Amino acid sequence: MPSKTLTSYLPELSAFLFGRAKPSMVTVNLTNRCNQKCIYCEIGVDHPSIHKDVLSVSDLKWILDEMAENKIRKISLCGGEPFLFEGFIDVVAYAGNKQIRCSVTTNGMTAHLLKESELKILKETKTEVNISIDSFRESIQSFTRGSPVALQNALKSIQKLSEKGIPVTVLTAISKYNFRDLFQFLTEAYEKGIKQVLFQPIIYYSNYPERSPIENKSLLNVSTGELDILMDQLSKILRFERKHKINTNVYRIYPWIRYYLHTAASQNGKWFFDDVLEKFFCREIYAIIDISYDGGIQPCGLVPASVSIINNRDPGLMALWSNATVEIKNDLSNDRYYECCNGCCHHFSRNMLASMMKYPVKNRHALIKMMPFFLSRIMSRLLKKSLFLYGW
Ligand SMILES: C[S@@+](CC[C@H](N)C(=O)[O-])C[C@H]1O[C@@H](n2cnc3c(N)ncnc32)[C@H](O)[C@@H]1O
Ligand code: SF4
Ligand code: SF4
Repeated sequence: MPSKTLTSYLPELSAFLFGRAKPSMVTVNLTNRCNQKCIYCEIGVDHPSIHKDVLSVSDLKWILDEMAENKIRKISLCGGEPFLFEGFIDVVAYAGNKQIRCSVTTNGMTAHLLKESELKILKETKTEVNISIDSFRESIQSFTRGSPVALQNALKSIQKLSEKGIPVTVLTAISKYNFRDLFQFLTEAYEKGIKQVLFQPIIYYSNYPERSPIENKSLLNVSTGELDILMDQLSKILRFERKHKINTNVYRIYPWIRYYLHTAASQNGKWFFDDVLEKFFCREIYAIIDISYDGGIQPCGLVPASVSIINNRDPGLMALWSNATVEIKNDLSNDRYYECCNGCCHHFSRNMLASMMKYPVKNRHALIKMMPFFLSRIMSRLLKKSLFLYGW
């Protein structure tokens, strides 16, 4: 896997030093169909009755052509369940031909059924696969993912992909159902040969803003009375990954997750990022083009689209995206945040880093607080690299 320094941190630094000329990636929800019923996902609790996707392979090819023309080299394929999108592998192969790297986020229900030729395409295009697993305890995984075969299939998929040399990252939603076992979860992931686990708390706004949020969604999060238990689990994970060949994003979420969960519980109208930063900056509305399963270009993942690629694509993707984001950019640059910004934890680590780079003086207290986490991470990565290099 290319080092994160090369793929993320250096391009980010250059974007801040020399300006961001264009977004760094596109994310597309290929479909709203799904084969799980996750308790924290609007698609899971309300599968659509219509079983035909709005987007087609030719729409995806248009998006990829536009990306290639504008030298945007990363696309994230999501959903719904992206493997249910007819022509999924054709899209990956087409992206590969255009030198665009795909990452796909899946529940792993069907990836183990891929044909050899399809696996070969994933491998040759260096597609990154993220598989969502909340727990290795079957009872918890079945409950949170709403399927009795969720764990079994995800593990089969990990095994199949790993056998073919396709790297898999595990994504874990931290909820009140699994937080007590996160450390145990990581050690088991390590034993299973998984190299990376990324955690995030529950987003309590709707993941699909055209749908109403699940009722009392924030109550799925860890309660404030149990935060110490969660923080203890995260500390243990930090210590474990310093010495083992597995990486997580815990060093990035540790500084803010407590504040996020407090706000989720109280919903007192306060911005949770005010507890973390003196000045907040949302990088995502400049760095990502978010395309919904109905072809809408969203101002960001949590805000509904008003511009579509389906009806009138003549202006081209970049012009449509500029149009779609003009209002949100104006609002946020005048500190007029949106209600959903308080529930936007999936982007917060990157936004936090971007805020500190953009406003280092205003955010100096945050910078001083975060520095030990970043330094310790860099040191442990260097140490691990040299130890593993010498066959430790
Ligand atoms: C929306 S799913 C789509 C891709 C695929 N169906 C899957 O589950 O991996 C993308 C990721 O978001 C996570 N997710 C969904 N709803 C969430 C929520 N309310 N809070 C945090 N993560 C959530 C899922 O667990 C998954 O890792
Ligand atoms: S999180 Fe993914 S697998 Fe679960 S219901 Fe939503 S789209 Fe389906
Ligand atoms: S912080 Fe607000 S504007 Fe930025 S991505 Fe999150 S919800 Fe969207």
